[in-house]
Amino acid sequence: MIRSPQNETEWQAYYALRYEVLRAPWGQAKGSEQTPDEALHQHFAFFNDDNQIIGVGRLDQIDAHNAQIRFMAVDAPQQSKGIGKCLIHFMETEAKQKGIQQIILHAREVALPFYQKLGYHLDNPSHLLFGEIQHFLMHKLI
Ligand SMILES: CC(C)(COP(=O)(O)OP(=O)(O)OC[C@H]1O[C@@H](n2cnc3c(N)ncnc32)[C@H](O)[C@@H]1OP(=O)(O)O)[C@@H](O)C(=O)NCCC(=O)NCCS
Repeated sequence: MIRSPQNETEWQAYYALRYEVLRAPWGQAKGSEQTPDEALHQHFAFFNDDNQIIGVGRLDQIDAHNAQIRFMAVDAPQQSKGIGKCLIHFMETEAKQKGIQQIILHAREVALPFYQKLGYHLDNPSHLLFGEIQHFLMHKLI
């Protein structure tokens, strides 16, 4: 099931997964997985049958017709089982309902084939995270 976290325990698990997958492997400090404006954005968590959060993603509305997907992460042992794909499809459906026509994102190089498979087009290299993780701007018309 995909939905937003709804209580303190779920929010902690949500950010913990983000941290474990996207920050801890690069020795980044706790807290670096969050931005000051989390409350402004839409949050999606994939819950398994035991009600554990095993996938997360954030949808940021940029303007009336554009949104950005950020902080996509699936628990390492659960990767390559279709959970990321489910999350992206769910966020795209939500975005469409809000009148969004295009989603952009900055993909890590390792995740490029994942997003390409889901219909995202590669635009150009964007920023270098932690001095080593090259990101690439991608977009999809939905
Ligand atoms: C990238 C990530 C979110 C993808 O989620 P996932 O649940 O592992 O991916 P899925 O199982 O849903 O994959 C969907 C499709 O993409 C393909 N795919 C995924 N990663 C791939 C890769 N590295 N190379 C080729 N194909 C890939 C899958 O084979 C699958 O294809 P299918 O539909 O034909 O079976 C997840 O692996 C992850 O959290 N990785 C580490 C953190 C990260 O890089 N996050 C993205 C930051 S931009």
